[in-house]
Amino acid sequence: MKKISIIGAGRVGESTAQLIAEQDLCKELMLIDIREGIPQGVALDIQETAPLLGFDTRVNGCHQADGVKGSDLVIITAGLSRKEGMSRTDGLQAKIRNIDDIVQSIVKSAPDSIVLMVSNPVDALTYEAFIRSGFDRHRILGQAGVLDSTRMASYIAMESGLSAKDIDAMVLGGHGDSMVPMIRFTTISGIGIEHLLDAGAIEDIVERIRNGGDEVLSLRKTSSAYDAPAAAITKMVDSIVHGRKRIMPAVAILQGEYGLHDIAMGVPCVLGDRGVESIIELPLNAAEKKMFDESAVAIRKDIDSLK
Ligand code: LAC
Repeated sequence: MKKISIIGAGRVGESTAQLIAEQDLCKELMLIDIREGIPQGVALDIQETAPLLGFDTRVNGCHQADGVKGSDLVIITAGLSRKEGMSRTDGLQAKIRNIDDIVQSIVKSAPDSIVLMVSNPVDALTYEAFIRSGFDRHRILGQAGVLDSTRMASYIAMESGLSAKDIDAMVLGGHGDSMVPMIRFTTISGIGIEHLLDAGAIEDIVERIRNGGDEVLSLRKTSSAYDAPAAAITKMVDSIVHGRKRIMPAVAILQGEYGLHDIAMGVPCVLGDRGVESIIELPLNAAEKKMFDESAVAIRKDIDSLK
């Protein structure tokens, strides 16, 4: 991939840029932020790690929207930073105006790009980007499930004392209180977690996943999480850039999958050169379907409030 742009040089944008550069996932990485000097400074700081870490990616910064010009992939992390007590949906109207402007600049300057939404509320904003851009749905996706799943896997590793490397966790649905941890599809070296953890421990883990973002925010006070989000974004970017076709949960536009239309939410996707290559429909049991549908109702409420 020739060029990746990251819009928003806040903490998530910066940590993501460092990982993408370190992994040489593109020739040019552009950081864009309206705060003049910040993206340029962040870019220079990261560029100066190249001799130490051994990468060739050129990292640049720009405070104008047309910095996205010619990008193959655009990652949107811009937004108001969340303070303790704020939900992911607070300030939605202001966020929308901001996202609409960003999407217009992408349509104009990077019309063939894949767009990866990270800003919250990610499900509704992914849908907004789809509507505003007019891009085919495979080119618009959002990050949430990879982060929620790595949190789930981390809690399982901490609780069981087993290696985090062997844990394959899956969280679907919206990135909010109604997210859907998929216990039946979560394994440790292929063994279902219910064989290794008791029901009470699993219940506690599910509760902790739903509050995963808040837990970090309430400890840090002035900042949401950014290290785990950046690692989650980079895992998705790696699969797209290398056309690996890895399966991971992503916020995708649903047109009939899971019985839903005109909505964006977290479902298992195959990620490759085209972005979302396909969506995998899992056979949900009644309890999972109920949680999934409740999550869809919560997202639909956000989407409707954008109209
Ligand atoms: C979180 C925020 C970034 O889950 O949504 O940490």
